[in-house]
Amino acid sequence: MEPTHDTAADASARRAAWSAYWATGGLHSCVGSFDGNYSGAIGAFWRGVFTDLPDGPVRALDLATGNGALPRLLWEHRAGRPGLEVDAVDLARLAPAWLDPGQHAGLRFHSGVAMEHLPFPDASFDLVTSQYGFEYAHREAALAEALRVLRPGGRLALVMHHAGSVLVRVGRSELQNQALLLAPDGLLSATAAVLPWVARARAGQDPSGEPDALRARTDYNAAIQALAAAIAGSDAPDLLVEARAWVNRLLAGTGPDPAPALATLATYREGLVGAGLRTGELIEHALDDEQSAALVSALQAARPAGRVRVGLVSQAEGLLGWGLRLDPA
Ligand SMILES: C[S@@+](CC[C@H](N)C(=O)[O-])C[C@H]1O[C@@H](n2cnc3c(N)ncnc32)[C@H](O)[C@@H]1O
Repeated sequence: MEPTHDTAADASARRAAWSAYWATGGLHSCVGSFDGNYSGAIGAFWRGVFTDLPDGPVRALDLATGNGALPRLLWEHRAGRPGLEVDAVDLARLAPAWLDPGQHAGLRFHSGVAMEHLPFPDASFDLVTSQYGFEYAHREAALAEALRVLRPGGRLALVMHHAGSVLVRVGRSELQNQALLLAPDGLLSATAAVLPWVARARAGQDPSGEPDALRARTDYNAAIQALAAAIAGSDAPDLLVEARAWVNRLLAGTGPDPAPALATLATYREGLVGAGLRTGELIEHALDDEQSAALVSALQAARPAGRVRVGLVSQAEGLLGWGLRLDPA
């Protein structure tokens, strides 16, 4: 099994990008138009896993949980049955807005916890899960940790990105679109250059004769044209269309002082850089056939008495990922 390698700087940029994302309160992390599709084939995969759990008390661990989409699904599935305890960990800082301590006693979120070093004793859990999370880890170390904390005869279930999935395909388009917006001659830089001149015009001055103003306007128009061409040629143009509308609103709302609009633009740029990092990671960590087979072999070797199954999770939109399960034989 091939572990992924990254530097401390990569790890801290990854943590920051995901923390910023989860701070917005979002429940899911799927790119573009596939947001919210956990209720389809992925939801069915999880319902299959949860239905096989015993009726009595269950202690579960969710790895790379984000804002807890999966613990929430499990909680809802077990509604009314007492004895559910869930620990949910993630490297990033979490902000699950839906969590109500009064209603969800027994559900604990742990920010800043790496899957490769779990702060739980051996054989603590009946079920270990991860949804689009496990594959982001150094897999060998994360698997060893998941199996260490799983009790003998316990269950492991993972939904993981697939290298040939529709999410990876859309992700590649989004990555290109993010790069286009962030390029030195892209829409964001062109907007930053034109904004001070727009502000001067709003202050009642006429900067149109100034060569720098003229250059800024020409560059902005060129960026807009390039954007229109990219929108026409992209199979996932949502981000570009949204960015164009967003910039239009920003320019329309700019007053005589350009500073607030420039600050808003800088925040937007930061958000796009973070989105690019997250999308790049999705593509980088998606498993191909060989990597999936290696994971299955490692799991079977570590738990020879268990039953390991791997399959494709797909629905009308296409392939969504791998679904892997370890169950008692
Ligand atoms: C695509 S999100 C999935 C979140 C969640 N499971 C869901 O379905 O919405 C991937 C998550 O993996 C986390 N992550 C990446 N590497 C990790 C690691 N080594 N240990 C723990 N969490 C990690 C990220 O912080 C991010 O929240």
